[in-house]
Amino acid sequence: GVDSLMRIPPSVLKVHNTREDAWSAFNGKVYNITAYLSFHPGGEKELMRVVGRDGTKLFALTHAWVNVDFMLDSCMVGFLVSEPSS
Ligand code: HEM
Repeated sequence: GVDSLMRIPPSVLKVHNTREDAWSAFNGKVYNITAYLSFHPGGEKELMRVVGRDGTKLFALTHAWVNVDFMLDSCMVGFLVSEPSS
């Protein structure tokens, strides 16, 4: 449920940048796309370009018609937020 979702700043997103632990953000939502990597019709290599960072722009450039919200709903881990100021 929504209560278990995290607020994730870019510095945390960045840590999950490997094939075995792959997170990416699309339209303000952060997803764990590890399990999806090998199923992507556009290939794993393309998806790896956005791992650990905000992939919104690249996603919109390649296939704005794909409903990422719907497809990855069960893989959502939280919301992308700005870096807390120290
Ligand atoms: C194709 C999903 C991220 C590049 C596709 C297709 C889907 C999909 C459903 C087939 C679309 C169609 O045939 O109309 C996703 C999801 C993503 C994602 C759920 C996010 C997790 C990306 C990113 C890139 C990318 C970030 C580029 C860096 C491509 C390319 C194709 C494709 C180039 C075309 C493959 C072809 O037709 O040969 N993707 N995609 N995708 N995707 Fe993605």
